[in-house]
Amino acid sequence: MKAFELLDELKVGGTVRHETCDTFKAGNPETELKRVAVCMTATVDVIKKAKEWGADALIVHEPTYYDHMDVKGSDRVTALKEKLICESGIAIFRYHDYMHARDVDQITEGELHFLGLTGEVEPTPHFGSYILRGTETFSAVELAERMEKMLGIRHIRIAGSRDKKTNKIALCFGSPAGVYEILTDESVGIVITGEACEWKLAEYARDADLLGFTKSLIVMGHIPSERDGMKLLAQRLQEKHEDIAFAYIESEEVYTYTDET
Ligand SMILES: [Fe+2]
Ligand SMILES: [Fe+2]
Repeated sequence: MKAFELLDELKVGGTVRHETCDTFKAGNPETELKRVAVCMTATVDVIKKAKEWGADALIVHEPTYYDHMDVKGSDRVTALKEKLICESGIAIFRYHDYMHARDVDQITEGELHFLGLTGEVEPTPHFGSYILRGTETFSAVELAERMEKMLGIRHIRIAGSRDKKTNKIALCFGSPAGVYEILTDESVGIVITGEACEWKLAEYARDADLLGFTKSLIVMGHIPSERDGMKLLAQRLQEKHEDIAFAYIESEEVYTYTDET
């Protein structure tokens, strides 16, 4: 199987109406695949690890060059990263829009799978955002603790209600549009997202809680909020293509903290 054939296969089952970013960012689409790495972001570390592992191709969810469509800047960091990628010979292609647009959003599916959350998932009018009517009720603290434990996330942040329980939870993994509109829906108790504007989303949740509503915003960090979808993708691709080796390579959280060594 060639790299472009795998990307074409991944696009089946979804419809993207806008110009897609799911294209090749580096390397030759005709590359014959024997080893394929999967990650959230092709960081410098991930590219080196993929090369060490012998990857022919790397599937990424996020941009490689700090721009949604990977339009390259003219700075030295971008130039050196491009050189590293060219020298690696690895074909890089993005799997983002179609990953979210398939019949079941695979990022959301992966996060729920590894969190062990069950219930009814309904789409919202906003791309990439869903409502979970869970079979369990949670407070924001309980849900955040579960995320820390089951997904290995550090420093999850909570704005608004800490201890009020709900089973109506908005799933806005990554950084999708429409989170404010979803947050203002009175029936939604907890909104989970990857990253958030504090003066808007976090302050809304804080005021809503102080005015007596059940309203929590849980901010997981962008990579921790989506990487389990990519992990699940790597597993599923491995089950489907026995003649190709797949490996998930961890991009790690982008921030470091003073309590680390
Ligand atoms: Fe995403
Ligand atoms: Fe994202």
